[in-house]
Amino acid sequence: MAATQESLYAEIDLDLSWSERELPERERTKHVHRLHPYLGKFIPQLVEELFRRYVPARGRVLDPFAGSGTTLVQALESGRDSVGVDIASFNCLLMGVKTARYDPFALEHDLRDALRRLPDAEPTKPSAYVRTWYASPAAEQLLAFRGLAADYEHADVLRVVLARAARSARLTTHFDLDFPRVPQRDPYWCHKHKRECRPVEHADHFLRRYTLDTLARLKEFGRVRTRREAMILHGDARELDLPGRFDAVVTSPPYPGLIDYHEQHRYAYELLGLDDLRERELGAAARGTSRAALAAYVEGVAAVLERCAGMLKRGAPLAIVVNDRRGLYPEILERAGLRLDARHRRHVNRRTGRRAGEYFEDVLVARRA
Ligand SMILES: C[S@@+](CC[C@H](N)C(=O)[O-])C[C@H]1O[C@@H](n2cnc3c(N)ncnc32)[C@H](O)[C@@H]1O
Repeated sequence: MAATQESLYAEIDLDLSWSERELPERERTKHVHRLHPYLGKFIPQLVEELFRRYVPARGRVLDPFAGSGTTLVQALESGRDSVGVDIASFNCLLMGVKTARYDPFALEHDLRDALRRLPDAEPTKPSAYVRTWYASPAAEQLLAFRGLAADYEHADVLRVVLARAARSARLTTHFDLDFPRVPQRDPYWCHKHKRECRPVEHADHFLRRYTLDTLARLKEFGRVRTRREAMILHGDARELDLPGRFDAVVTSPPYPGLIDYHEQHRYAYELLGLDDLRERELGAAARGTSRAALAAYVEGVAAVLERCAGMLKRGAPLAIVVNDRRGLYPEILERAGLRLDARHRRHVNRRTGRRAGEYFEDVLVARRA
């Protein structure tokens, strides 16, 4: 018999679940959390609640799958030290820009100066990728901005702005920004706007808008952050040396067959010339969900969690956020030498659109067995 709505909700941890009204998008994407789109991040308020439960005030937290840096940003906001690891260089660049400390006057000077120089800046020669995915004016503006960025102390901030504008300016339909397959060169019927839309021709308006938005968001975060340390390690969490002892792990691992974390930011790798380590990415969708792929995933995540558990203070918890619809985590925890202490189910509020529908995930709280 199907579970009734009441019995389903009875097991949901309401302190970890929010409706759109309780937690509107504006708050879920506060300050630096909206510097660049990122599929598959968790919301800052979930991290705040997990910190309240599992990480002592002024404690030190580790996230071995740090992604866009939600754990690190919230650690800085709440007065905790943090270390974040990620295999994807763009994610590390983004985390670095979010967590760095800035002199707001110097930052504003650089960003506005780059915008002032943009109309006269010379583009470099476009690569095959740029010629395929951008209209000529957009390609020239992006490449000119890329050349300018290198002149500034805040080059990395400008590189994140460039990536965000490059995402918006691709020759794609409005409804396929996450996973475009082929360039869209002609006008098309847009399901999102219910009218005929045209592919983007120019990138300069995005560069301008995102530069000013980034400036405002970095300043806003500068006013609420503490001076605690956020350390970013780029590499494979199965292999990196983790510095010091931690009070907790708070993380959301990738899940097999869902997202390619390198591929979703392909434009950034192409334009910024970043290191691509996708063959080390755990659970990458491109690898599929064959038995062999799932076995490799289980082995990989277990290795990471075991390593992290070894760096925790005695009795300290790992809070792992996951939607384990394949039931892989009992084996992962066992292999990692962990014991499940609690499972908190949360209801995930998803905005309307293609990904609408009821969705739940679990916070698994584990400790060394
Ligand atoms: C679900 S996302 C984490 C999102 C993060 N909680 C946030 O709020 O942005 C999982 C991350 O694990 C990273 N990852 C995958 N394999 C990895 C590995 N071997 N070592 C370190 N990170 C890895 C991916 O690049 C991705 O950013």
